Amino acid sequence: MKGLDSKVVIVTGGGGGIGRAICQRFATEGSKVAVLDRDQAAAQATVDKIVGAGGTAIAYTADITNYQAIADTAEAITNDLGLPTVLVNNAAFDRFMPFLKTEPSQWDQLIAVNLTGALNMHHVVLPLMIEAGGGKVINIASDAARVGSSGEAVYAACKAGLVGLSKTLARELAGKGVNVNVVCPGPTDTALLKDVASTASNPDKLVEAFRRAIPLGRIAQPDDYPGIIAMLASDDANFITGQVISVSGGLTMAG
Ligand SMILES: NC(=O)c1ccc[n+]([C@@H]2O[C@H](COP(=O)([O-])OP(=O)(O)OC[C@H]3O[C@@H](n4cnc5c(N)ncnc54)[C@H](O)[C@@H]3O)[C@@H](O)[C@H]2O)c1
Repeated sequence: MKGLDSKVVIVTGGGGGIGRAICQRFATEGSKVAVLDRDQAAAQATVDKIVGAGGTAIAYTADITNYQAIADTAEAITNDLGLPTVLVNNAAFDRFMPFLKTEPSQWDQLIAVNLTGALNMHHVVLPLMIEAGGGKVINIASDAARVGSSGEAVYAACKAGLVGLSKTLARELAGKGVNVNVVCPGPTDTALLKDVASTASNPDKLVEAFRRAIPLGRIAQPDDYPGIIAMLASDDANFITGQVISVSGGLTMAG
């Protein structure tokens, strides 16, 4: 990909399934990867894989719901690696339950990570990106944001909020050299999907129902995403902003 060599890339949730695959891809492109995760061991495992393969990455342990922790982490990343010019907001979690059975305390937890966490990251990192002369933000939402998903009301609301945030920032920052785009995964073979399925009455049946709804006939793997994300971070995407792209085997086909 054009223009990714030596770029400083921050990936939140970089210790998780999709996040790790994204971090590894940026490292193979020659980027310097800040692997940010609240799970220290998971972030370090991603770094160990990258460094073992000859790449450059550092693990940063922080909770994206904590604004000050993110501000401190961004400062550390800038000192260690340089000003970030690519941000992938990927950290999230989900719980599967009909909305009318949920409690407000559960909404608060979902909103804190899936929406406020992304707000914190944008608010802290975008000034650094502007100082660097511009950059690329790729927000990982979900097809649940585009078409809804039974059992995931608050998660879907947060992800739809992330889409609205992305389009707004794409407009506000277009004159500052910052492009903001969204990638929407569908059901993917990661811990998140296992967690979601485990809260259903019949986990295997739920995953099989997801699979049957996907025209390409399989649950996604983490490696299905890094290609489009690296492209959206590259110079080939300099004229792409405010767009929402589903990578979900045809699960949704938005016009
Ligand atoms: N797996 C799916 O089926 C699926 C479907 C649609 C969208 N997505 C989206 O893809 C992205 C990646 O999900 P995944 O499947 O790889 O999940 P995952 O559970 O494998 O990884 C998520 C990572 O985020 C980290 N994290 C969670 N909360 C955090 C916080 N507050 N601060 C810092 N780190 C935090 C976790 O420690 C974990 O390493 C998410 O945005 C998710 O919503 C996933």
